[in-house]
Amino acid sequence: VSDPNCPSRPARDPLGLPSTERAALWQRVDEILENYFRTLPDASVRPASRDADSGALLENCDLISPMDPQKALDLAVKGLHAHQVHAAHPRHFGLFVPRPTTMGIVAETLVAAFNPQAGSAQHSPFAVQVETHLLRTFADWFGFDSEETNGTFTNGGAEANHTAVLAALDQHCAGFARDGVWALRRRPSLYLSEEGHRSFHKVARACGLGVDSVRLVPTDVAGRMDVHALTRLIEQDRRAGWDPLMIVATAGTTGAGAVDPISALADVAARERLWLHVDGAWGAAAAWLPELAPLFEGLGRADSMTFDPHKWLSVPMGASTFLTRHPHVLEHLFSVGAPYLASTDGQREVEPYARSLQWSRRFSGLKVFLSLLVAGRQGYQQAMRRQLALGDRLRGELMKAGWALRNHAILPVICFDDRGAGVGPAALRDVQALAERTVATGEAWICAVRTRGRPVLRACISGYATTEQDVLSLVETLTRVRTSYRGTRAGPALDSRSAG
Ligand SMILES: Cc1ncc(COP(=O)(O)O)c(C=O)c1O
Repeated sequence: VSDPNCPSRPARDPLGLPSTERAALWQRVDEILENYFRTLPDASVRPASRDADSGALLENCDLISPMDPQKALDLAVKGLHAHQVHAAHPRHFGLFVPRPTTMGIVAETLVAAFNPQAGSAQHSPFAVQVETHLLRTFADWFGFDSEETNGTFTNGGAEANHTAVLAALDQHCAGFARDGVWALRRRPSLYLSEEGHRSFHKVARACGLGVDSVRLVPTDVAGRMDVHALTRLIEQDRRAGWDPLMIVATAGTTGAGAVDPISALADVAARERLWLHVDGAWGAAAAWLPELAPLFEGLGRADSMTFDPHKWLSVPMGASTFLTRHPHVLEHLFSVGAPYLASTDGQREVEPYARSLQWSRRFSGLKVFLSLLVAGRQGYQQAMRRQLALGDRLRGELMKAGWALRNHAILPVICFDDRGAGVGPAALRDVQALAERTVATGEAWICAVRTRGRPVLRACISGYATTEQDVLSLVETLTRVRTSYRGTRAGPALDSRSAG
């Protein structure tokens, strides 16, 4: 019996869409994706239309009257095709945004459709069990005690680093969860290398500590935190009234791929009674290669770590993990009751929303789980070994072509500049111009960064689809761009403050 006051569903529901229209959409998406991945290697990494106004595509989108779904799909695909750098391109030598795994794309589709609430085991036990299984497995693979380790999936490395600072504060100061920074008698300081990730600056602000509490420690010639400089700085800070809180060891710096000496930093942390966090957002995956294990020695002694599957495990963005060997700290920080939630008193497992900064949460573990299930750790080891070898090949080819290498990483991040380039403003202008001109060719994507105070070009073998041929063509493009840039450059060829 229908109530006349209750409107019936429209004949064509514009939200769910009729099944024939859905089937046509799925098919079209399938064609689009296949075509995208097939044609990408021959397409431009940075579409020529980048400077054109992508806003023009939005001109007829008043969002009031409905649009045909196929037309809407075409509009989105046009925008994505023409107005972004293609991170999935084999010649995208970029900042850790790799080509996503096929199983990662499949998982994202399933998660979008089933929409599980990964914040609650009562609601979505499968999602929570999968993520718990992954966190325990990662703990084991990184040398933590998997029985003791607790953790959570986060949206990205920055959120995992945020969680780390909160955990360190909670552990350091009994009243922190209740009274916040008012519970602190002295101002805490955190120690990050000069090459460490600047998410910690944001985090320091978000935690109410202020950006000055991030103390930048100088690095050695390899770009690794200088342990002696660290101990001197801690001592000096204590004398000046700071309350040293934590050391952040970076396992794979963003700019130059350096791995801090984790074991030596663990010794300092133990001696000084500080929390040791390892930011292995990108690089920690390489610890799964037995031949690189010495580089990561001491990782299992850390109090916590960040590891981003959306970097070297190549799953679509939005999957990072935070691990800690303090089993109760997350619950202590994040557990709250809410009037609209059933009491969790007496429940054995703490619900994920009660041990994470997030509340409702996407099931980001599925893309990691399905990718690992299909490739196995062995598949990833194989891909990483190939990428490391391609990194070595790129170093060799750059040197042959007269470029100077400016970092000494084992990981496949290569920093370089023109032989004889300096470190001053002219050198900065030169590397920026070379990066921009290289990107403008559409043949490859690289960037200009600063490492150990020096402006350099940076190329990272970040995608599993990159081949030897792609590496050779990058060097060919770079060398051609350098020749034409030298031809246009006015003034002296070398920076007057040349450092050789
Ligand atoms: C070492 C390191 N830590 C943290 C982050 C931040 O990670 P996300 O961008 O996933 O938040 C990055 C990003 O590149 C990184 O390289």
